[in-house]
Amino acid sequence: MVIAAGASSYECNMLHFWLYVSAANVPPRSVDDALIYLQARNRNAARGISGYLHREDGYYVQYVEGPPAELDQLKNLIRRDWRHENIRVLADGSIMARKFFAWDMAFTDAETSSFRAIQALSGGETDIGRASAEEILTFMERTALSGRARSVSQLAGHSGVSSLIFAPDGHSGV
Ligand SMILES: Cc1cc2nc3c(=O)[nH]c(=O)nc-3n(C[C@H](O)[C@H](O)[C@H](O)COP(=O)(O)O)c2cc1C
Repeated sequence: MVIAAGASSYECNMLHFWLYVSAANVPPRSVDDALIYLQARNRNAARGISGYLHREDGYYVQYVEGPPAELDQLKNLIRRDWRHENIRVLADGSIMARKFFAWDMAFTDAETSSFRAIQALSGGETDIGRASAEEILTFMERTALSGRARSVSQLAGHSGVSSLIFAPDGHSGV
């Protein structure tokens, strides 16, 4: 396999992904919570990482994808992060193409797009802590396509972090 120099090397077929659920240790929409999004903005694009982070009912669920070495580095950081615990891997492996090509990190929470509410409509598992990888990925892909998710790349500055990230945008829960 020929790996081209520069950003295009991220688009060769050596992409890995990681999907997990964890228990949050910081309150929703707190500064500690909000800083995660700024850290993702600062690191992910530079390292060819894309993905989706959702928070609901005291859980984080995150899907990340990118070049293996960069993804491994990020996984180590995330595994050691005090802001959550009990990380349970739902799926990981190799992929040929990104699911979230256009997103450094798409993000939603229960207020912008509720997994529980959407699953209740379809009769699926409503408890995100018990949902399958397929249910969570379907939710993420649909929500990203629906325009309800925001991207960390849209975030600016470090002042007033929490209100900046979670400013009302007119989205309701579902
Ligand atoms: C649930 C969760 C998701 C995270 N997602 C990312 C991410 O996608 N990208 C990232 O760089 N850091 C993420 N972090 C933060 C990392 O664990 C780590 O604190 C951060 O990358 C360090 O950034 P810094 O070197 O800029 O301080 C996440 C943390 C938590 C708790």
